[in-house]
Amino acid sequence: MEKKNEPQGMKRRKFLQKTSAFAATAIFLPVEGLELFGLNKAISQSSSIPTITLNNGIEMPMIGFGTNTLRDTIGVQSVSDAISVGYRLIDTAHIYGNEASVGEGIKQSGIDREELFVTSKLWVDDAGYESTKKAFQTSLDKLGLSYLDLYLIHRPRGDVKGTWKAMEELYEEGKIKAIGVSNFSPEQLEELMGYAKIKPAINQIETHVFFQQGNSYEYHKKSGIQMEAWSPFAAGRNDVFNNQVLADIGKKYGKSNAQVSLRWHYQRGIVAIPRSRQKAHMIENLDIFDFELSMSDMKAIAKLDLNITQFPEWE
Ligand SMILES: NC(=O)c1ccc[n+]([C@@H]2O[C@H](COP(=O)([O-])OP(=O)(O)OC[C@H]3O[C@@H](n4cnc5c(N)ncnc54)[C@H](OP(=O)(O)O)[C@@H]3O)[C@@H](O)[C@H]2O)c1
Repeated sequence: MEKKNEPQGMKRRKFLQKTSAFAATAIFLPVEGLELFGLNKAISQSSSIPTITLNNGIEMPMIGFGTNTLRDTIGVQSVSDAISVGYRLIDTAHIYGNEASVGEGIKQSGIDREELFVTSKLWVDDAGYESTKKAFQTSLDKLGLSYLDLYLIHRPRGDVKGTWKAMEELYEEGKIKAIGVSNFSPEQLEELMGYAKIKPAINQIETHVFFQQGNSYEYHKKSGIQMEAWSPFAAGRNDVFNNQVLADIGKKYGKSNAQVSLRWHYQRGIVAIPRSRQKAHMIENLDIFDFELSMSDMKAIAKLDLNITQFPEWE
């Protein structure tokens, strides 16, 4: 990825320090205001996906490719297709059982490793200092990579303290560019930061139009920990792709419900990792940077919030 200038990231940090009212206003932020998030408008050469500067200075694309359930040949083909149409952030996890397929897809894409931002996650069975080091190496080997851009604790279970210490060491050794967590509440983040030497760069949590995560959203904006959306379409639940509010908004801009949803995440300053097996959908999901949701659009989408998970089976 192209190197971006420091000042935008600095602007974001200063801005975050200055205001605690930030989160309350952020959902209605117009495009010009996105620079205050550290969203760099300078676009990387190989794709047109804007990036955000994380709290350790590392740049991350604002839209990535989710790979849950994409295994074996479908996994290889999907990842290779996603990279060919412009995705640079690829999200996998040990528990998805597809790290080898993701690695093969990366290899088949022919893209330089340095152009990519690869995330994997430590599953709960591997929590603990020694087991984290081992599990990390297994993930790297399966992916066929020598480093990860981002490694996350998948769920706040087991020996989180030992896990985090191991991840901090791997980070300091240069084997991971940024470390973070997933599915942590603000309270669990605070607890971790009570003993952490290195602050998490990311918290990847469930968020979409039906679960907007009001409190957590505000916490992330204040803390400088970047929020990343898993299941940015609620995996299609609650009939999101036929939702009338999203359809009425999309009609004004010639955009689909999927595109309106992803644009909404982007204008909130949230990284999103939509999954698709279809190349046409992969392309559609990147085509969100040529329109802007108005304040009234953002308010209408805010009303879709059911404030409850759409995945109760995972609770
Ligand atoms: N950290 C965690 O605990 C956690 C949990 C869940 C997920 N994740 C991550 O988040 C990623 C995304 O979440 P997800 O996979 O649950 O679901 P998602 O991205 O919210 O939705 C995927 C579904 O949307 C459909 N879709 C995609 N683009 C579309 C479009 N333009 N129009 C219509 N339908 C479209 C896909 O079908 P087609 O294939 O037909 O396009 C698929 O059925 C995962 O893959 C994974 O990497 C992380």
